[in-house]
Amino acid sequence: MALKDGFLWGGAVAAHQLEGGYDQGGKGLSTMDVTTSGDQTHKRRFTREILPGENYPNHEAIDFYHRYEDDIALMAEMGFKCFRTSIAWSRIFPNGDEAEPNEEGLRFYDRLFDCCLEHGIQPVVTLSHFEIPLHLVNEYGGWRDRRLIGFFVRFATVCFERYRDKVTYWMTFNEINNQANYMEDYALLADSGIVAEPGEDRERTMFQAAHYELVASAAAIEAGRKINPAFRLGCMIAMCPVYPLTCKPEDILMAHKAMERRYYYADVHVNGVYPANTLALWRRRGFDLDVTDEDLAQLARGCVDYIGFSYYMSFAIEHKQGNVHYDYREDTDLVPNPNLKRSDWGWAIDPIGLRYALNWFTDKYALPLFIVENGFGAYDKVEADGSIHDPYRVDYLRAHIEQMKLAVDEDGVDLMGYTPWGCIDLVSAGTGQMDKRYGFIYVDKNDAGEGALERSRKDSFAWYQRVIASNGEEL
Ligand code: BG6
Repeated sequence: MALKDGFLWGGAVAAHQLEGGYDQGGKGLSTMDVTTSGDQTHKRRFTREILPGENYPNHEAIDFYHRYEDDIALMAEMGFKCFRTSIAWSRIFPNGDEAEPNEEGLRFYDRLFDCCLEHGIQPVVTLSHFEIPLHLVNEYGGWRDRRLIGFFVRFATVCFERYRDKVTYWMTFNEINNQANYMEDYALLADSGIVAEPGEDRERTMFQAAHYELVASAAAIEAGRKINPAFRLGCMIAMCPVYPLTCKPEDILMAHKAMERRYYYADVHVNGVYPANTLALWRRRGFDLDVTDEDLAQLARGCVDYIGFSYYMSFAIEHKQGNVHYDYREDTDLVPNPNLKRSDWGWAIDPIGLRYALNWFTDKYALPLFIVENGFGAYDKVEADGSIHDPYRVDYLRAHIEQMKLAVDEDGVDLMGYTPWGCIDLVSAGTGQMDKRYGFIYVDKNDAGEGALERSRKDSFAWYQRVIASNGEEL
């Protein structure tokens, strides 16, 4: 079996989805502190300020801010080699544009990373995971504004210097390519802190914002390399392979074009230049974006060392008559794949798609890969004796790990690690729910915010413990 020694088994979370303590330790408000809960049928709403009578699930989340020591101990019990989390930008720079960081915020992550290291767990850190300081949205319009590049690089540099000897693995922007779905309000808000105006050309807005983020990522990576040459600096891509619905040539080309649109961000992160397909699209659209020669030079100086990616599902697409340019609209063009079952939230379950994704990334970029999210959101039932039987979660993860091993063994993929999403139950990013659960560790709190926040081990806890102990042999 080919998983290397030192393979990074672990789990993944993000600050705003589990920390709580939204107003503690000098923290400023972030975009997610003013985003309401939702559910399968109601979207989360961004309210710009805290409004009375609204439910903001991230305010308390699972109170990891106060309970991290016990939670990390549980992860150590499972045998984690690494723990992926993010740093809440608004803990370090409460408004985002200050000259000096908030020492109390920095101290929180010192304590958290020290706790991980004491348990032999490597922190894996995302700098920007779906939230930015609210002030940067209300005063600057989020990543519409070039000045955010400087603010982000200052934040990244402070983190790199402070945690120089505690953190080796970094990623800049979580799922930077989610905003390929630019008609979805939440995607623009989460990736770019942008609230679109009625009638605005959202596609143009997205390309401009993503450009500033890509430049900021490259500048941060360049700075990080100088601070510690041993850092491993990566990007983070949401990988949902887009399959053609049929083998009609039109569908094949449509799927190819959709992949170009969803993954040009990775091209820039890895190669340091825009691919020709993206430049051609900008020309055809007449987009005269703010892209300077210095930006292009910066992109080339900040290429990533590895590709971190999430994998939950695959998509399918067919070409629609009249779409002469094979333009991709993620909100309207995807179709159900009749070969796949779906989760309760409609996410297509496709383990082979993970092997396909690992091959696709490897063939295209030839870089080490890190699966930094994968998982199954499901309702769990607590039995009278407190036990939680979650075979559906084990089935999903087992099937994906099997495909991951085949990609390493049979296809030669260079894989650094695997961190399933939401290793402890947390607030769903997409819906704001607690009851969409991913964890091996159950947290006693429901969508209405009720519960004592107590932690307990699901059946999948012992299963994952065995998987790690056997380096993926016992599934
Ligand atoms: C990824 C995000 O999109 O998927 C996470 O990086 C998110 O933040 C995860 O939680 C699962 O999505 P959801 O909507 O089920 O929480």
